[in-house]
Amino acid sequence: MGTSNTSSISQVMEMIMVIMLLGLVTMNSVNCRPPNAITLSEYPAMSCRKHVASLTDYGGVGDGKTSNTKAFKAAIDDLSKHASDGGAQLIIPPGKWLTGSFNLTSCFTLYLQKDAVILASQDENEFPLIPVLPSYGRGRDAPGDGFRYSSFIFGTNLTDVIVTGNTISI
Ligand SMILES: *[C@@H]1O[C@H](CO)[C@@H](O)[C@H](O)[C@H]1NC(C)=O
Ligand SMILES: *[C@@H]1O[C@H](CO)[C@@H](O)[C@H](O)[C@H]1NC(C)=O
Repeated sequence: MGTSNTSSISQVMEMIMVIMLLGLVTMNSVNCRPPNAITLSEYPAMSCRKHVASLTDYGGVGDGKTSNTKAFKAAIDDLSKHASDGGAQLIIPPGKWLTGSFNLTSCFTLYLQKDAVILASQDENEFPLIPVLPSYGRGRDAPGDGFRYSSFIFGTNLTDVIVTGNTISI
């Protein structure tokens, strides 16, 4: 009697373990996909931006030394025109892409391919001074009041923005 109780308890434990493992597996696979209720046509940003371009289309050089500040600005300014027409994706190919601050735009995906690294410039001139937030009151890092350096990757009043893929190094 004692023996059969023990074995049925361990069987129950095994069952619970199996159910927990199944639960983990199921949760993992769900995490990789949009929630079931959302179909791909409602969640197109990852794979289906209508317009796609590479930073190299705008003169980008991924040698780790050349500044790509102008290339990022040109690319994102241009791609921002597609916000109301299916959105756009900017591909950062393998390489080291040095740049100063740049602004994102709406309905936009910044996709870093494998072995692509965005490097933040160490040159303060590559970071524009922008007004401080009203709640902050005064500038902290720039001479004179009322200004701050822009964040490395910046944007205001944006919707539907995705940054995905490899590495951003500051
Ligand atoms: C980003 O946009 C802000 C306005 O929101 C502007 O002041 C700033 O100069 C822009 N930064 C760049 C790098 O163009
Ligand atoms: C933010 O964008 C919306 C439309 O996209 C516009 O109506 C609104 O005025 C903008 N707000 C600011 C503070 O720029």
